[in-house]
Amino acid sequence: MDIRILPSNIANMIAAGEVVQRPSSVVKELLENAVDAGADQVTVVIADAGRTLIQVIDNGCGMSPDEAVLCFERHATSKIATAEDLEDIRTFGFRGEALASIAAVAEVTLKTRREEDSVGCQVEFADSRHLATVEVAAPKGSNFSVRNLFYNVPARRKFLKSDNVEFKHIVEEFTRVALTRPEIAFTLIHNGRDIYVLKAAKSLKFRIQDLLGNNAVDKVVDVAAETSVVKVSGYVCRPDAARKTVGSQFFFVNGRYFRSPYLHKAVMKAYEDQIADGAVPSYFLYLTVDPHSVDVNIHPTKTEVKFAEDNVIFQVLYACVREALGHLDGGIDFGAADVPELPVFGKEYERYRPEPVMPDVSFDPTYNPFEGMPGPSSGKEASWQDDGASWRGGYVDKREDYGKLFEEKTVPTAATLIFQGKYILTPKQDGILLVHVRRARERILYERFLAAITRSGHVSQSALFPVQVQVGTANRLLFDEHAQLLSSLGFDIRPFGNDTIVVGGVPDGFSCDPDRVETLVQDLLLILSDDHTSLPGMLESSLAEKFARLGASGGPGLTSPIEAQRLIETLFGCENAEYTPGGRKILSLLDADELEKKF
Ligand SMILES: Nc1ncnc2c1ncn2[C@@H]1O[C@H](COP(=O)(O)OP(=O)(O)O)[C@@H](O)[C@H]1O
Ligand SMILES: [Mg+2]
Repeated sequence: MDIRILPSNIANMIAAGEVVQRPSSVVKELLENAVDAGADQVTVVIADAGRTLIQVIDNGCGMSPDEAVLCFERHATSKIATAEDLEDIRTFGFRGEALASIAAVAEVTLKTRREEDSVGCQVEFADSRHLATVEVAAPKGSNFSVRNLFYNVPARRKFLKSDNVEFKHIVEEFTRVALTRPEIAFTLIHNGRDIYVLKAAKSLKFRIQDLLGNNAVDKVVDVAAETSVVKVSGYVCRPDAARKTVGSQFFFVNGRYFRSPYLHKAVMKAYEDQIADGAVPSYFLYLTVDPHSVDVNIHPTKTEVKFAEDNVIFQVLYACVREALGHLDGGIDFGAADVPELPVFGKEYERYRPEPVMPDVSFDPTYNPFEGMPGPSSGKEASWQDDGASWRGGYVDKREDYGKLFEEKTVPTAATLIFQGKYILTPKQDGILLVHVRRARERILYERFLAAITRSGHVSQSALFPVQVQVGTANRLLFDEHAQLLSSLGFDIRPFGNDTIVVGGVPDGFSCDPDRVETLVQDLLLILSDDHTSLPGMLESSLAEKFARLGASGGPGLTSPIEAQRLIETLFGCENAEYTPGGRKILSLLDADELEKKF
């Protein structure tokens, strides 16, 4: 066995793997250096999601020609000098390895000048080698250009995701830094387009507004607390806005972004019972602690931190968020929304009986059970009709599966009752069949969506009067990323500018009420931003399930018995008419015995 010391460029390249995982890592390091250098104006220029160019220009302190070369050495830093300094980090950087890592896996040019120098210098590095230094005219500050990232690490290059995904990561890093320094002006340009132009902001609230749109600040409340261990300030959203701000969960400690599933729980706990299941409130929470009591060093990319007293911080966060929410009047009651209650009939029974209507056919394969919903219909029913043919057969074949429940043919429509728009009641030979409308719709939508996703089919669409929704840049990119999926599911969603989308159509079965579109968009964001990659194989069904639940929850109550009758027919054509994809009962039979017991 030959043991040897690796050449420094190879060692740097290996170490770079820790620091530079993707283009956004470079953006983060360069942005943080610019902030550490005292800049008040920082511009980020990106080409091809960072594959070909990442450039960060600042007006900070700049470097001397010697420093401009030295800064690319591993462990070259001006930010700490002694081991004690490690306990008291006040800058973003301190490891002195970012630039060395970047220069190991890309071609880097640095142009820089200090205030006191009359002329600047340009330094070039590639493959960890210093290639050239020349004198150049340069404004005060530093200008780093990082070209052809991973040009010498093909494996890494292959590992990169689509431009949309990579650029989304860049926007995230940009946002995290911009949220810590409202007083610094930041610009982000991608492929020649201004994505963000953030002026120096008077306060954090203005910065949040500039970054994330008016919606983000309309519905926030102030949080403030000060204890001996931690000081907390910032904003959290009102509970009723919780679903509306996907991706806007930010913790900062001493001016640095960090992730903490543990402290996230503290915030979620403060919202307990005030927000719907699955909704996530947005928050911007800034902690200040004694630098000695926090270790920002536990993770190479430094988004996780370790607090000496994290349980105390948990309690403080929980208490102050709870307190902030307590000042609001009346939270919303999401109650036991999903617990079905079988209708109980009394003397009022007659009131609920709809006008008897007798349709001339018992079912119609071209029927769309969602037709009764408000809004225009595009008339593109072709795909629905196709489905009709197959489910007709399915109905006959599957009846046995449901056993006693469905031995009979559906009894005449005149006897079908709708209770509160939520339940359908149909007499059967030995009892009354109860159908949960929302769940039935969920099952039907689920099977249509699953077919569209797995067999690349298409769900037909209902056109809307186009509605614009400002979602913020990162979220807009999320829509771009899933454009194909959304269109096959029947959504017509187009980009509009950097941070806005236009919704022009929704899947048949979704509410066409323009007032609901914004909520729908926020719900879509919740679904799309979930990390589905963690569920291989489950992906399609879990997506279909989420979309189905979304569509079914927005539907209006049933009103006409014909609609009711047809909903039942369509339901029976499903693979499984008894349970929702989530396993909840759609059907129930109140049999003669049970009726008997009531008297
Ligand atoms: N934009 C900049 N302006 C001025 N000096 C910089 C800039 N970027 C980097 N430097 C200098 O280069 C050094 C090395 O940077 P880096 O490799 O990111 O390590 P660290 O930030 O951990 O010190 C910094 O400590 C700083 O002195
Ligand atoms: Mg640094």
